[in-house]
Amino acid sequence: MSSSKALSDDSFAIAHFKLSDMWCHLMMEEENKDRYSQWEKIEEDIKRCKKCNLWRSRKNPVVGEGSIESKILFVGEAPGYWEDINGRPFVGRAGKFLDELLEIAGLKREDIYITNVLKCRPPNNRDPLDEEIKACSPYLDKQIEIINPDIIVTLGNFATRYVLNKYGLKSEPISRIHGRVFKSERTIITMYHPATAVYNPKMKQVLTNDFLILRAYTKGAKKD
Ligand code: URA
Ligand code: SF4
Repeated sequence: MSSSKALSDDSFAIAHFKLSDMWCHLMMEEENKDRYSQWEKIEEDIKRCKKCNLWRSRKNPVVGEGSIESKILFVGEAPGYWEDINGRPFVGRAGKFLDELLEIAGLKREDIYITNVLKCRPPNNRDPLDEEIKACSPYLDKQIEIINPDIIVTLGNFATRYVLNKYGLKSEPISRIHGRVFKSERTIITMYHPATAVYNPKMKQVLTNDFLILRAYTKGAKKD
């Protein structure tokens, strides 16, 4: 083969590569537009929602926060006092500790998306009721569908039970399965709720060790 023929084959290959690269990029932009418009709809639905009684006592619903293009989704239980006032997840004491844990796992808030099983605060932070979880969980299901995360990190018993059962996996108390990695169509990593450690140095150490396990999984898994 002459060198000029080899050269033109090469240029053809490069042009082809660039075109398919551009095509991929355009497809991803389209997908993202769709993702953001679906997200706006779900935000609107949650803001108007009256599917369980919690809308009566809530100040603000908490949809969630972070990047909906992330490959890592964190799921907590329900908004607490400060979350209800601010309309943002994990902004109270447990949230401050969660920020420390994220740093241990090599993550920042903007690298992940974080939401809760319930979008409205139960009065006096009582446990979620089964009927509230049943009414509210379709929003979480839809959020999971839109974000399409590789990794779901559950925080505490309620999130852990809901997510494991959703993927046909058997749940156990978080005291038995904290720091474990489950595989289904997604990777599910089950953690204690950070609030359990706020006044308990021993639990802080347990959560710190568990988030070190998470660190190994999050390298390269931050975005599409
Ligand atoms: N606890 C949760 O489970 N979620 C929050 O957003 C805050 C505290
Ligand atoms: Fe609706 Fe969920 Fe709020 Fe209940 S907790 S009112 S289901 S958004």
